[in-house]
Amino acid sequence: MAQINIRNTGETISGFAEVSAFLDKQGVLYEHWDTNQLPSHLQDKFNLSDADKEEILSSFNGDITRLAGARGYVKWDVIALSDSTPDLDALLKKFEQVHTHTEDEVRAIAAGSGIFVIKGSDDVGYFDVVLEAGDVISVPENNPHFFTLTSERKVVAVRLFIDPSGWVAHPFADPAFS
Ligand SMILES: [Fe+2]
Repeated sequence: MAQINIRNTGETISGFAEVSAFLDKQGVLYEHWDTNQLPSHLQDKFNLSDADKEEILSSFNGDITRLAGARGYVKWDVIALSDSTPDLDALLKKFEQVHTHTEDEVRAIAAGSGIFVIKGSDDVGYFDVVLEAGDVISVPENNPHFFTLTSERKVVAVRLFIDPSGWVAHPFADPAFS
């Protein structure tokens, strides 16, 4: 299950109900999908063929189509990052810059783990959402954030889009970010 780390106070929030309540207050969608839907040979695989990616999407098809129907997503795909990804360090450096999008950013973690760093309300400031397999998050449109990996440096995630062609990162310069 996801865990929250609030940067300004060092406060940690864990447990499904507590994390859900915190994220709901911040306008961030949070769900947890059953990873047993994924065949065991894909639960710890990070170098994926196209067939693997298709199998991941069909494994979670029920959850994907439910969420898509509820929130208007029309396309979805699978991304994988690990030490077998060429230039992973350069890629992470690029990722780790606060930015916004004109649509929400949805990620369902199928395997591994990842962190969304999100700008919260003024009284909260930036917080980290540490996600593990099964965790699903949607960062609202125009909400400053970035994504990075945890120390295990591997993730497989399903992405859902309203308009993939419009999904562009806009840099967000924020002196309040540290
Ligand atoms: Fe983003």
